[in-house]
This record gives sequence, C-alpha cells and structure tokens, in this order.
Amino acid sequence: MSKPFVYITRKISNDVVKGLEEHFTVEMWQEEEEVVPRDVLLNKANQAHAILSMLTDSIDEELLAQSTNLKIVANMAVGYDNIDVNAARRHQVIVTNTPDVLTDTTADLTFALLMATARRLPEAVDYIKGDLWKSWSPYMLAGSDIHHKTLGIVGLGSIGQAVAKRATGFDMNVIYYNRSRKEDVESQLGVQYTSFEELLKQSDFVVCMTPLTPETEGLFNKETFHKMKDTAIFINSSRGGVVNEDDLYHALKQGHIKAAGLDVFRNEPIGADHPLLSLNEVVALPHIGSSSIETRSEMMKLAARNIKKVLNGDDAVTPI
Ligand code: DGY
Repeated sequence: MSKPFVYITRKISNDVVKGLEEHFTVEMWQEEEEVVPRDVLLNKANQAHAILSMLTDSIDEELLAQSTNLKIVANMAVGYDNIDVNAARRHQVIVTNTPDVLTDTTADLTFALLMATARRLPEAVDYIKGDLWKSWSPYMLAGSDIHHKTLGIVGLGSIGQAVAKRATGFDMNVIYYNRSRKEDVESQLGVQYTSFEELLKQSDFVVCMTPLTPETEGLFNKETFHKMKDTAIFINSSRGGVVNEDDLYHALKQGHIKAAGLDVFRNEPIGADHPLLSLNEVVALPHIGSSSIETRSEMMKLAARNIKKVLNGDDAVTPI
C-alpha cells in the first residue's frame, strides 16, 4: 500500500520534513517568501491526505470539496480564519492550529509594539540614523508613559492573559473585555472585567487580541475610535480584519486617538503606499507576532505532530 501523501504549503525546517518523511510521502512548496499558487494548491490538495498550511492559504469549500482523500489540515498558526471550518466539518476534515507554543512570543511582540509606539522608537531610530540629532531638547521625541497607565485588553485568551502578565510588571492598571467573563484569571492576574464601552472610554492603551470572526470583523471602526480617549494608543496584533483601516486612518488624522501600533493588516502583505504607513503616529510591522526562531520551529513541530496523529488514526493534539 502506498504511503499517505502530505503536502506542505511553504518551505519549513528540514528536520520537521524529515520526521514526516519517515512515515509519509511528503512534498513541499519550495519557496520561503512566496505563497503557493492557487492552482498548485488545488492540484496537490486533490491528492493529499494531509496539508500543512499557512495563514496565507485559503482552505475553502472549493478546495475541501475536491480533496476527497484529505483527512487533516494542520494550520501553522493559532488563528484559523483562512480556513472554512464549517466546510471542513461537512467534508469530515480535521482542522488543527498551533496554540500555546506561540503565546509568550506573541505577547512579547505585542508588548514591544506597545512600547515602541508609546515611546516613538521607530521615529527615534530614523532621527539618529537620518543625522537629525543636532542637540538635546526638552520635548525631543517625547512619547507617552506606559507605567501606571490603564491597559484595556479586548479578548482575554491565552495571549491576552500573557500580555496582562507583562503589563503588571509595569504597574499598569489592566482591564479587559471578553465574550465570557474570566473570574479565575481576574483573581490570578489582578485584572478587572469591564464592558466594551467602558474599556474604550477608560483605556490609555487599547490592545486588540480577539480573533477574526464574523462577529469581530470591523469591530474597531469610526464609532469605537471616537469613544476612545484622544490620547489613546491602539495596538493590534491579532488580525487586520478586526479593524476598519479607513476609519483608523481618519481617527488618527483627526486626532480622535493618538497613535497605533499594528502588526496585522486586512490584506497582507501591504505595500509602502498603504495610507496608514504615511502617518508618523503609526508603528507598523509585517505580521511577526510569533516570529522567533524557537517558536516558529515549535509551531512547525506541532503541526507535524497533528498530522502524524491523525494519519495514524489517533486524536489530533490541538484540534479546533
Ligand atoms: C497566528 O499564529 O495566528 C499568528 O498570527 C502568526 O504569527
């Protein structure tokens, strides 16, 4: 009997590939930077028993319907808004993600982005490298304090909680809004539950950690930005679709909020001509939340473990 076929949609570590090759026939899209073209993906998926996918691959009804051998899609991300989970269920395809292994790394990046935005670090780097530093002056590149300020976290999942933990080290007052209240976490981390409205009103930093779902799409929009303090700093390291980017642009331009730190965008990758990049008040990163060498390796390994389990007839380690 021929071995099950695993298709990997982006170049990943040789060690992980070798581990899969001990059991399966493995093929991999050989590009590191380039998304697998749709026709190639459809063709490979049509033969595959497992796909190790990235958040840049659209795993939709069309793909799932024609992939009759497919047993599992192992997404190398905690987010899975690139996958039609209901369609996968209908076609009896198991979907897995990579939670936990990336929690601390993503929280580190989120907090780094918050700090970089508040203290204007990219502007300061450009200033010195651009030979603009001619003298010291009292308000030169003056930013906003972080310590003792109010941090509002929207979405208190594990990454949100890890961000809260970091904030307590900065003596921040942490409030949160989540679909369901988490009283155990409140006592453990000393965070306080508020309504979404209150959070917008009270927070000096509003950090978006909520996944992209039909309910959260466009959650941050003209109306919500107008409810924030005009000194508020908005941070997003979850998914770009949670934000109406035009509304964010206008809120910044018109001074309804002070600044934004963004690791994610609605249509990635964005070009240098994206309007938000024209604003000094925006610190932008190219979706690197979980991007440390250690964590990306762990994410690959976990995706591969899910594939091995499912193709061997066992339960997935981290099913959705
Ligand atoms: C995820 O895993 O969903 C992250 O956005 C990847 O960095």
